[in-house]
Amino acid sequence: MATDKTRAVGVDIGGTGIKAAIVDLEAGTLLSDRIKVATPAGAEPKDVLAAVLKVLETLGVLDDAIPLGVAFPAIVKSGRTLSAANVSQKWIGFEAERFFEEGLGRDIHFANDADVAGVAEMRYGAARGVGGLTILTTLGTGIGSAMIYNGVLVPNSELGHLQRAKHGKDFEAFAAYSAMERDALDWNEWAKRLQVYYSHVEFLFTPDLFIVGGGVSKHADSFLPLLKLNTPIVPAVHRNNAGIIGAAALALD
Ligand code: BGC
Repeated sequence: MATDKTRAVGVDIGGTGIKAAIVDLEAGTLLSDRIKVATPAGAEPKDVLAAVLKVLETLGVLDDAIPLGVAFPAIVKSGRTLSAANVSQKWIGFEAERFFEEGLGRDIHFANDADVAGVAEMRYGAARGVGGLTILTTLGTGIGSAMIYNGVLVPNSELGHLQRAKHGKDFEAFAAYSAMERDALDWNEWAKRLQVYYSHVEFLFTPDLFIVGGGVSKHADSFLPLLKLNTPIVPAVHRNNAGIIGAAALALD
């Protein structure tokens, strides 16, 4: 039975949606329904904060002392957001952790969204007990990445922003799930783009395991078997909940 020492709330802010739940940190499972609202258009700090407040209110934990972790789709260093690929430019160089702490009236743990998904899969999922280098990528609005070497997270790897040779553009604009939707690709067409991307990452890092997260990972059977890599590639055990679970897990650390 989860107690106050083993429960935390995870909030996963994405380019498209904001998701949250209460998490059992012993089991790495959700103890509540998953609440989801759309990320406000433009994703400006004050609007995102208002949406997070709404989500916490719906969860019934607004005034609760339960630990809270918040994940965000940007480089996060010492509580500051240093990039803004799919959110307002106002987040660049912004004291985001402090902003959320003041707005929510409580301490939080704040980190990159893909990094926390990597932590969740390391503690409770596909990377549990895996040695060497695991690279988790989330395929969503952007491409997020988490690099875990022998159980230690190397934060802010940002492998979605590797540049495509000759094109000078980010891989995430070409191979994220949003690119599949934007260009109305079928699974085969999208898998060809993923093949270019994962082959490149594989060549650069020679990982021991690739994990694929993000909402589309629930359809992993439709595209992962189409990829030809030397590295095993598996869906995140916690699919699109990995961000929520990882954010909550870090809140108690
Ligand atoms: C951001 C990353 C984020 C990823 C997934 C990228 O555009 O730069 O920080 O992890 O999207 O949300």
